[in-house]
Amino acid sequence: MKNFSPKPWTLPQPVLILGTYDKEGTPNAMNAAWGGTWDTNEVMISLGSHATTENLDLQGAFTLAFATVDTLVASDYVGIVSAKKEPNKIAKTGWNVVKSEHVNAPIFTNFPLTLECKVKETLNRDQSGYMLIGEIVNIVCQENFLSTDGLPDIEKMGIICYNPIHHEYIQLGKKVGQAFHDGEQLK
Ligand SMILES: Cc1cc2nc3c(=O)[nH]c(=O)nc-3n(C[C@H](O)[C@H](O)[C@H](O)COP(=O)(O)O)c2cc1C
Repeated sequence: MKNFSPKPWTLPQPVLILGTYDKEGTPNAMNAAWGGTWDTNEVMISLGSHATTENLDLQGAFTLAFATVDTLVASDYVGIVSAKKEPNKIAKTGWNVVKSEHVNAPIFTNFPLTLECKVKETLNRDQSGYMLIGEIVNIVCQENFLSTDGLPDIEKMGIICYNPIHHEYIQLGKKVGQAFHDGEQLK
């Protein structure tokens, strides 16, 4: 086996699109791969210092969408350009924006699935950023991405993951098993 020095290589990583409003109510979005589940109704994201973190401090709310093949180019764009330098950042993505009905944050309707969140707390805050803990208050899924049982069908969505080893986006594949079930055969 080959050894590597410590790196954030948890695989796969989500490609999260964090939506916020600035002080004028202008929508912004950034890409975040260092995030995931914190607790039953909570998410965590490790954040540097961004226009987004200023918005989070101001509004106490955000949305979290899951990037897809169809939104890939603009999802990467919002991860390499800051609203601090590009005031027309969201216009350049071409994304359609509506205000969340549950939190003071924008929903980009180009994404199939979006979590609407309130800032619960921030941890390890210093000049370089903080760990954001968010409470999920609602989830919206576009109707055409629901399966026959009425739940979101992630196989339909073309969701992408981030590969931190080669800095690539990889499309989520097909179902290969049933959780909490397939292991039963070894009991
Ligand atoms: C694939 C990818 C993953 C990223 N993950 C994170 C992350 O987890 N945390 C973070 O603070 N920044 C992350 N970034 C960088 C921000 O998205 C980037 O600095 C962005 O321009 C901030 O925008 P803003 O200043 O308009 O808020 C990531 C960028 C890319 C392309």
